[in-house]
Amino acid sequence: MKEKLNNIEVLHFREIDSTNLEAKRQIKSGASLPMLIVADGQTAGKGRMGRNFYSPENTGLYMSYAFEPEFDFSDSMTVTSAAAVAVCRAIEALTDLKPKIKWVNDIYIDSKKVCGILTEAVTAQKTAVIVGIGVNITTESFPDEIKCIAASLNTEINTAELAVKITEQLCELIQGLPQRTFLAEYKQKSCTLGETVEFVKDGVRDIGYAVDITRDGGLVVQTSVEGVVLSSGEITVRTKK
Ligand code: BTN
Repeated sequence: MKEKLNNIEVLHFREIDSTNLEAKRQIKSGASLPMLIVADGQTAGKGRMGRNFYSPENTGLYMSYAFEPEFDFSDSMTVTSAAAVAVCRAIEALTDLKPKIKWVNDIYIDSKKVCGILTEAVTAQKTAVIVGIGVNITTESFPDEIKCIAASLNTEINTAELAVKITEQLCELIQGLPQRTFLAEYKQKSCTLGETVEFVKDGVRDIGYAVDITRDGGLVVQTSVEGVVLSSGEITVRTKK
């Protein structure tokens, strides 16, 4: 189904392999941007680091927002952090939940992941950025490998309304990307800052205290010997005993 949301072309699918893959196909075939692709279910949902994103039909929001960036490459690194703030704002606006951001861009509620974000760049017909967002809304059972960390919002929420709210917030924050208008709120919503984290940098596993987020969305970690900045990858937060 094809619709318009302000100047955004909206495509809705009952089921698709992946909304990010569909965004890439649309861009390659010359579709006009910005574009929002929403699916009720995905058969090959993509996660970060080559993982799958579990996307059962009618229990989550699976969306990709594709746009042509007007900002510098240095700003593009922060799109994904801005998207995390946009998702939190949308959930807060529509529910009583208090979502938190685990660096880089996982959304957590009560120590469980309810949303993942996968940002990809495309240079085909045009240079475009695709922000893929998956929110578990009512999914009850998860595959064994993620069932101890994954959860759902488990609240009455209209999927279309959530998609619109996230998109509105994302568009607003993308406008302010060069000024990093998302950054203070990102830090305030972070459940990583102030925690002891395990990380791998240059192939070496280490441990330190998460002290800050840089202008480019990097995580500043103080180890016993030095301060390091992580720009990508994954961390494990060590829970306080
Ligand atoms: C992660 O947690 O590793 C990122 C998950 C991103 C999932 C979303 S669902 C909509 C969009 N389409 C995809 O194939 N992936 C993203």
